[in-house]
Amino acid sequence: MDKFLIKGPTKLNGQVDISGSKNAALPIMTACLGKPGVYLLKNVPNLRDTRTMAKLLEIIGCKVKSQSNTILIDSTECDNPQAPYELVKTMRASFYVLGPLLSRFAYAKVSLPGGCAWGPRPIDYHMKAFEALGAEINLDSGYIETTGKLKGTKIVFPKPSVGATGNVLMACMNLEEDVFIHNASCEPEIVDLCNFLIQTGVSINGIGTDKLHVKGVKASHVQDIDYTIIPDRIEAGTFMIACAMCGGDITINNVNVNHLDIVIDKLIQSGCDISIGENQIKIKSNQNINPVDIITDVYPGYPTDLQAQWIALMSTANGRSHVTDTIYNDRFTHVAELLRLGANISMDSNIAIINGIDSLKGAQVMSTDIRASASLIIAAMSASGETNLSRIYHIDRGYEQIENKLTLLGANIVRQSE
Ligand code: EPU
Repeated sequence: MDKFLIKGPTKLNGQVDISGSKNAALPIMTACLGKPGVYLLKNVPNLRDTRTMAKLLEIIGCKVKSQSNTILIDSTECDNPQAPYELVKTMRASFYVLGPLLSRFAYAKVSLPGGCAWGPRPIDYHMKAFEALGAEINLDSGYIETTGKLKGTKIVFPKPSVGATGNVLMACMNLEEDVFIHNASCEPEIVDLCNFLIQTGVSINGIGTDKLHVKGVKASHVQDIDYTIIPDRIEAGTFMIACAMCGGDITINNVNVNHLDIVIDKLIQSGCDISIGENQIKIKSNQNINPVDIITDVYPGYPTDLQAQWIALMSTANGRSHVTDTIYNDRFTHVAELLRLGANISMDSNIAIINGIDSLKGAQVMSTDIRASASLIIAAMSASGETNLSRIYHIDRGYEQIENKLTLLGANIVRQSE
């Protein structure tokens, strides 16, 4: 198992190129299952999760060829609409295959995802929506088996869910009837999925709003699809917060600045100097960090996927701040690890109360999930002394070449195999 040795404190200076979005690439890869065809996807981040997804597509029967950040998926001869436990347990996003498989084969068998490090993470919205679309659902030996010819309907989600919205959109790919989705997710990753589905012939109105009207089209074969995934706003936000905490002056390239409005706003409030170009953000920090509260929310609110990183930043702010996660009440496994670096944080249900201190000090810590790991790397780079961060397979799931990118910015971070 690999670990990172990180020596701090380091300032960050220079340029970093942002990779394609993990959470856009994963559903778009599964959407290639929905109709037989050959799909060329560009700007796909080379991550543990995208490689797991490629493996899953191959099990289902796709031919997959990857070269640097391009993936060619040929789903013409898929004949095994199933997702086994071994893969689904390592990546919940595997559950996304259910919608496109059901749409194409009127059958899909997918392992139940199970819990994750920060709680149960239910899939009831997905199931109720598939039932409303006319699917029959059976749960047997840890697998969900869905069958049936789908029909048009109106689905009202109790609250927006990225995964359930994506799964329903993909279930509609071959359905030539009207489906209305209310309380849909407005996240940029769902907008990207919609734009991809449109290329396969699906008609979608209301993209980027919480009311979608979808009508699929039955096509025997889809051809010449060439699609470029959007930049990863969470990776970009992570680098911005890293610069804010460590101090320095960095330029973040290949970014969609519109996807980061609230993060930019919060960083300016925290004292950073930010200037914005077309696909570029420059951020400067003198480490004089003002305490700034955040409350996570669905897009365009502050993303839960940048909550852990914000807590790290606030741990050396000039005062007290509050970070509330309204999306995942229990997503705070990083707090106990930040305490090991000397942070002063207490929890009150889903609110972290952070009393900023002058500086953190290196220690042995452990990654618990993708974003928790990012938060610990940021904290370790700003801390004095050496931090030994174990279980970094979590970070490899979601950040492409993170140590190379950080090293180019001046960080002292080395990967070691244990
Ligand atoms: N929810 C339910 N029932 C459901 C589905 C969701 O109650 O059937 C609840 C969840 O418990 C949560 C809220 O709805 O409280 C939103 O969850 P959502 O379904 O939007 O999350 P997701 O689709 O499982 C995606 C990202 C996560 C990100 C969340 C929120 C992917 C592959 N995953 O998960 O990303 O945190 O949206 O934005 O897109 C990450 O990248 O580190 C990550 C965890």
